[in-house]
Parts: sequence; C-alpha cells; structure tokens
Amino acid sequence: MEEVTEYLAIDPEGVYVDCTLGAAGYAERILSRLQGGRLIAIDRDETAIDRARVRLAAYGGKVEFVHGGFAEIAEKVEPGVAGVAADLGWSRDQVEDPERGFSFQYDGPLDARFDRRQDLTAGDIVNFYDERELANLFYELGGERRSRGIARAIVRGRPIRSTRHLAEIIERAVPRARDQKLHPATKCFAALRIATNDEMGQLDRLLETAPPLLRPGGRMVVVSFHSLEDGRVKRAFRRWAAEGPYEVLTKKVVTPSQEEVDRNPASRSAKLRALRRVA
Ligand SMILES: C[S@@+](CC[C@H](N)C(=O)[O-])C[C@H]1O[C@@H](n2cnc3c(N)ncnc32)[C@H](O)[C@@H]1O
Repeated sequence: MEEVTEYLAIDPEGVYVDCTLGAAGYAERILSRLQGGRLIAIDRDETAIDRARVRLAAYGGKVEFVHGGFAEIAEKVEPGVAGVAADLGWSRDQVEDPERGFSFQYDGPLDARFDRRQDLTAGDIVNFYDERELANLFYELGGERRSRGIARAIVRGRPIRSTRHLAEIIERAVPRARDQKLHPATKCFAALRIATNDEMGQLDRLLETAPPLLRPGGRMVVVSFHSLEDGRVKRAFRRWAAEGPYEVLTKKVVTPSQEEVDRNPASRSAKLRALRRVA
C-alpha cells in the first residue's frame, strides 16, 4: 500500500480509478488524500462493492462504484484520469468464504467466479473440459508439471462435486513428497480460478485500454502475484513507453519490504510496476 500510494503520487484534485476495490484498503487510502478529486471504484464482485459502500460511506459523492470487469474500463471511465491502480487476484474475503469455492481449505461448491452473474464456474471446467484441455490449463496457468496425471485422475473421478473432493482426487493422483510444503492441489486451484475468470484476458484488455485514459502526468500502478501476470504488465508498459508519450517509473520491479512480508506473508509474491504518461 505504501509503494502504491508513492507511485500514484496522489493529486488531491485528481480523478482516480481503483480497478480492484476488494476490501477497499487502497480505495480508502486514495480517498483520504483527495480534496476536490474523485474515485471510481471497480470490482467484479458485488459482495465487495456492497461491503465497500458501508466502509466508504463517509466519503459520500467522492466515490462512484462500478460493478464489472476492469477490462471494460474504457467504457466506464472518461479520459483525463490522474491515476489508475490495479491489485490483481483474489481478496481474503473471497478465499475465506467456503460458499465462493475459491479454496480447498474449506469444503464448498466448485465455483471460483468473481462475478456471480457469469455462467461459467470452476465446476464446469473440472467436469466438462476434455482431459487434454484440462492438462494444458493446469500446465499453462498453474505451472503444474504433473498436469497430465492430474487431468487423467479428474476425468476418471467425475462427477466432482466440491472443492475438497477435487483436492482429494489431486492429492491421490500426485501424492505430496515428504518435504513438500505446498499442497499438491494449490497450483491447479490457482489455474482454475484464473481460467474461470479469464484473468489473463481481463488483464490484457486493461493494459491495452487504460494508459490512454491517463491525463499528461497521470500514473498507472499494477500489483500482480503471478509471473504470468507480471510478464504481461512488464511487456505492455515497455511497449507503451517505446511507442508513445509514456515512461516506465519502475526500471526494476518493486517487491515488498521484509517488514511487510513479516507482517503480511500473503504479500511475499507481490510485484509492482508503474507507468507515467509524460506531461
Ligand atoms: C487483491 S483484491 C484487492 C484488494 C484491495 N486493493 C484492497 O486494498 O482491499 C482483488 C479484487 O479484485 C477483484 N477483481 C479481480 N479481477 C477483476 C477484474 N478483472 N475486474 C474487476 N475486479 C476484479 C476481485 O473481485 C477482488 O475483490
């Protein structure tokens, strides 16, 4: 949060877009620095928006909520914004709610949708994709090297009814080595979430459409937690800087301080990159 605030260099009169409202931590920080400025807060998850409406009630008309994917930012936001922030992935509220089906720590439906208006669920992928499609998905989006054996076990184990059921099938297919800390299902669950929500497609659209919305001097900051995402952010920012009036502010990727990792272990894989539209 400190680094995000620093790279946004908040102008109290500016218009800001928080593409991933979540629990409204960034949003509140930005709002607390605004005077005449405004915040447009986007999230695909309606529950996050409802909670944030309560948390941010004191800011009244300074904040506008948008329920939808940040891929559509150009349709929701007028050009001329002072800053755009995106903090990718899931929030703790989502992971810790068994009903949302994001985690195998709890038993719940195979859902994993950020936006519950969407038809496709993780259960559809697990129960209806063919074996090769599943193996590719686990390999490409999860970096799971034992993807073929896992896909085979899943197809044999259908119908798969819940998050725990899936985790057990994976664990049986690829037993955990004695020194392995990560649960054998971790990478597959991440891959399923990414696929269910088309997270790479959403990010690509954001990276294509958000920089032109910045006013001269405006900044865009993206925090990602996955090497596939960070690679996309890095390449897109470099391309904007090579082709247009933009500069990359983070010549080297910014990672959390040891103190932040100690305080919040979930931040350990965070990578921040920032872009500025040249005045
Ligand atoms: C890591 S959390 C954000 C936490 C937030 N920065 C805070 O301070 O509380 C990510 C949030 O982004 C949302 N999200 C993920 N992909 C999205 C997308 N493509 N469009 C809009 N919101 C998205 C998720 O629903 C989740 O609430």
